Order: sequence, then structure tokens, then C-alpha cells
Amino acid sequence: MKKLTILFIATTLVALASMTAIAGNNGPAEIKLSSRMGDVALNHAEHQQLVPDCATCHHEGLEVATCHNCHDTKTGSFKAKQVFHKLCKDCHKNDAGPTKCKECHIK
Ligand code: HEC
Ligand code: HEC
Ligand code: HEC
Ligand code: HEC
Repeated sequence: MKKLTILFIATTLVALASMTAIAGNNGPAEIKLSSRMGDVALNHAEHQQLVPDCATCHHEGLEVATCHNCHDTKTGSFKAKQVFHKLCKDCHKNDAGPTKCKECHIK
């Protein structure tokens, strides 16, 4: 019985420790993506619940969690507008998220 209690406490502590480790690394709960069309409010915390795998969005891993280092607003064939629209809208089409301009771009 005692052994079981200790095992239970140990397991709980390990679980708690890993939960705080993840929570400490989750980034901001709300992210404002600025755009001339009107800023887009990404509820990051909610999307972390909706989208089970971080890598769906963070395809280069979490060490380089910002997108704009590689996807800027003007140049390149993978510019921010293009990749964000693809990523965000494709999932929303299938999963009943917003797909109309003004549902995302709020002036
Ligand atoms: C729906 C897409 C999406 C999902 C899912 C997602 N993120 Fe993010 N995350 C973003 C975007 C967009 C940014 C802002 C990047 C930028 O500013 O260029 C961001 C930013 C971050 C940042 C801050 C980076 C910085 O340096 O400012 C961290 C940390 C982070 N995410 C961790 C996570 C973790 C951990 C998960 C999974 C539990 C996750 N994200 C899931 C889209 C997502
Ligand atoms: C280290 C550079 C780098 C970072 C950081 C990065 N990307 Fe990318 N991304 C690329 C490159 C290069 C491609 C095109 C080649 C490929 O598919 O790997 C790409 C492709 C994509 C695509 C596919 C586009 C298409 O038309 O098929 C999406 C969507 C995307 N990125 C979104 C994001 C998001 C969202 C973030 C931030 C959470 C991010 N990327 C961070 C370099 C990066
Ligand atoms: C893999 C799926 C998936 C991806 C990728 C995704 N979303 Fe969503 N999003 C959803 C779903 C599902 C909802 C609907 C949630 C609801 O109605 O409860 C949603 C809802 C939203 C909403 C409505 C308000 C809210 O938070 O419920 C906004 C704004 C939004 N997403 C922005 C974005 C942006 C910006 C991106 C790209 C950076 C993105 N989403 C990427 C699945 C996704
Ligand atoms: C699912 C949310 C979503 C929807 C729907 C959406 N957008 Fe976007 N849009 C974004 C995000 C996110 C960005 C990238 C912002 C950034 O660079 O951080 C963006 C970027 C842009 C840009 C580039 C702005 C700049 O300052 O460079 C334009 C233009 C644009 N969108 C127009 C539109 C139009 C027109 C529609 C409707 C046909 C639309 N968007 C629908 C999320 C959305």
C-alpha cells in the first residue's frame, strides 16, 4: 500500500513537471499578426487545443518559432500572405473555421 502511494505521488510529480515544462514553452496565448488588410488575431492557446501537433504550423520545429524570419511580407515565392492563407484557410475549409476576409482581418 505504502509503495503504491509513493509510486502514485512520484508519477503525479513527473506528470506535473512535464506539464509545466510544456506550459513554459507554449509562447503567447494570443498572437497578433499585423497586416495592411487589418490585423489577424490568432488565438494561439485555443489553436494548440484544436491542432494536436505543433508542427502543423511550426514546420521547422520550435527552435525557430517565428515565421517572418523566413516568410516576409514582400519577397519570395513563399511569402507570408501566401503561406498563412494556405495554412489557415485550408484547415478552416475542412474544419469550419473562418474563411471570409473580414472574419480574420479586423480593421
Ligand atoms: C495554428 C498554428 C499554430 C499552432 C498549432 C501552434 N502555433 Fe505556435 N505560433 C504560431 C504563430 C503564427 C506564431 C507567431 C510566429 C511569428 O511571430 O512569426 C507562433 C509563435 C509561437 C511561439 C513564440 C515564438 C517567438 O519567438 O515569439 C512559441 C514558443 C510557440 N508558438 C510554441 C508553440 C507550441 C509549443 C505549439 C504546440 C503545443 C504551438 N506553438 C502550436 C502558430 C501556431
Ligand atoms: C527556417 C525558415 C522557415 C521558418 C522559420 C518557417 N518556414 Fe514555412 N517554409 C519555409 C520554406 C523554405 C518553405 C518552402 C519549402 C518547403 O515546403 O519546405 C516553407 C513552406 C511553408 C508552407 C507551405 C507553403 C505551400 O504553398 O505549400 C507553409 C504553410 C508554411 N511554410 C508556414 C509557416 C509558418 C506558419 C511558420 C511559422 C510558424 C513557418 N512557415 C516558419 C521556411 C520556413
Ligand atoms: C489544422 C486546423 C487549423 C489551422 C491550421 C488553423 N486553424 Fe484557425 N481555427 C480552426 C478551427 C477548427 C476553428 C474553429 C474553432 C471554433 O469554432 O470553436 C478555428 C478558428 C479560428 C478563428 C476564429 C476565432 C477563434 O479563435 O475561434 C480565427 C481568427 C482563426 N482560427 C485564425 C487562424 C489563423 C490566423 C491561422 C493560421 C496562422 C489558423 N487559424 C490556423 C482550425 C485551424
Ligand atoms: C484564416 C484567416 C484569414 C483569412 C480568411 C484571410 N486572411 Fe489574409 N492574411 C491572414 C494572415 C494570417 C496573413 C499574414 C499576416 C502576417 O504577415 O503576419 C494575411 C495576409 C494578407 C495580406 C498581406 C497583407 C500585408 O500587409 O502584406 C493580404 C493583402 C490579405 N491577407 C488579404 C486577404 C483577403 C483579400 C482575404 C479574403 C479573400 C483574406 N486575406 C482572408 C489571414 C487570413
